[in-house]
Amino acid sequence: MRIDIITILPELLKSPFEASILKRAIDADLVEVCLHNLRDYTSNNYKQVDDYQFGGGAGMVMMIEPIDKCISQLRTERSYDEVIYMTPDGQTLDQSMANELSLKGNIIILCGHYKGVDQRVRDHFVTKEVSIGDFVLSGGELAAAVLCDAIIRLIPGVLGNETSALTDSFQDDLLAPPIYTRPSEYKGWKVPEILLSGNTPKIEAWREEQAYKRTKAIRPDLLDE
Ligand code: ADE
Repeated sequence: MRIDIITILPELLKSPFEASILKRAIDADLVEVCLHNLRDYTSNNYKQVDDYQFGGGAGMVMMIEPIDKCISQLRTERSYDEVIYMTPDGQTLDQSMANELSLKGNIIILCGHYKGVDQRVRDHFVTKEVSIGDFVLSGGELAAAVLCDAIIRLIPGVLGNETSALTDSFQDDLLAPPIYTRPSEYKGWKVPEILLSGNTPKIEAWREEQAYKRTKAIRPDLLDE
């Protein structure tokens, strides 16, 4: 898989790919992530990427030309399955969207800024608009990092124990059950006896019941779907 990220703040997006699981995935050639500075595709001396809104109104708009130039340049080298625009008014990211996107070959992620991009970018280049939640960030970069993390950890071979992604919260529309490690008793606080019993079927039944109870208490909406 290859992910090309178009941004006016590439430095903001470097570190998530330089540590831990994402770095290991890149080092193992399971995914390639390339950052592209939108200002490198401007044709004016000031490397300007935004301009005033037609019709008036507060806030600047990202111009179509540098975005077109950048995407067109990338498309001369490979074809893309999706051009994703990170925006608070997009479709909300969830686990099923992450599962779907982890199966793609090449994707472009465009990070929005200011009031957003010229509508013609959305009409003619963007194939998917993604929000990471109903709140507004200063730009799409941190949202893009969240999306990349959610996708990359699902690529086969990225997680050491492949079953561990399958037991994540949300993979079966349930939150994950409580987990414990040593010591079995700390300051008088005990690990549930069942987990120490060695009885695998009973442990599995307990985990399912706990996952259900937790989901019902915290995210009952997941059970309605
Ligand atoms: N850009 C600003 N806020 C965002 C959000 N919530 N999701 C995706 N991109 C964004």
